[in-house]
Amino acid sequence: MADAPSFPHQHLLGIQGLSPLEISALLDLAEEEIAVSRQIEKKKQTLRGRTQINLFFEASTRTQSSFELAGKRLGADVMNMAVAVSSVKKGETLIDTAMTLNAMRPDILVVRHHSAGAVELLAQKVECSVINAGDGAHEHPTQALLDALTIRRHKGRLQGLKVAICGDIRHSRVARSNIILLQAMGAQIRLIAPSTLLPTAIDRFGVDIFNDMRQGLVGVDVVMMLRLQRERMSAAYVPSIREYFRYYGLDVEKLALAAPDALVMHPGPMNRGVEIDPLVADGPQSVIREQVEMGVAVRMAVLEALAQHLPNR
Ligand code: NCD
Repeated sequence: MADAPSFPHQHLLGIQGLSPLEISALLDLAEEEIAVSRQIEKKKQTLRGRTQINLFFEASTRTQSSFELAGKRLGADVMNMAVAVSSVKKGETLIDTAMTLNAMRPDILVVRHHSAGAVELLAQKVECSVINAGDGAHEHPTQALLDALTIRRHKGRLQGLKVAICGDIRHSRVARSNIILLQAMGAQIRLIAPSTLLPTAIDRFGVDIFNDMRQGLVGVDVVMMLRLQRERMSAAYVPSIREYFRYYGLDVEKLALAAPDALVMHPGPMNRGVEIDPLVADGPQSVIREQVEMGVAVRMAVLEALAQHLPNR
């Protein structure tokens, strides 16, 4: 198996700052990791003897377990740390935690935090490589990479595809990372949401915006649904769940407006009956479970790419 391609970054803090070539190289490497994960012996040695700490300030099942498996399949010792944060003294707590962990000499820190920018701040304080596993409504780079890998495997390319990102874009780091990645790779992006669920400076993104889901879905190759993030909402952004599902929920009838072979995606966790009909989520066009498998592969690829910058290599 080929060595990891050279990757000039010590950390992965976002998709912003990655070149299209670097993105493609990570996806190519992830293809090899899929093969490893499908073997009986799912082990490589790249991170043997290394320590990976998963530091999660926000609850997560899927992303944390995916990073844990990825690290273990590369031979690292993986420790999971869930940190409950008191709402006071956040900045201080974050830096204190970082310094404490740094003293334990980890090689890689995987960090999720509820505030945008917190992971970058932490990366400045520690000596090891840092991976952003989601910071507030800012970025979630490994999610965008796994989405891109899933799409590329089905469509053979990203360039020129029409991708609709639908729902709670305002609160979504997944949407942001996907917009940056897909634009860099030459896809055409449509955002579909009620105005209340769009970020304020949305015109800066250079994407097409639709408030009417039926119009936005016409002819698209990929429909990416987002969870309605009620825990992040400080006010009532939607009149009612029933109303939301009627206008912005992906059901069989609305999906029929997309290309006949359009992929249905969702980063999870799904609110069935809120943003997506179970018939669509479990239907023939859904690649939602495949996204989970691609998640482990992409995280292995990122860990391997960053491992080049660990000392003694
Ligand atoms: C996403 C996240 O945490 O940003 N989920 C995930 O990574 N599994 C999307 C979401 O929470 O809706």
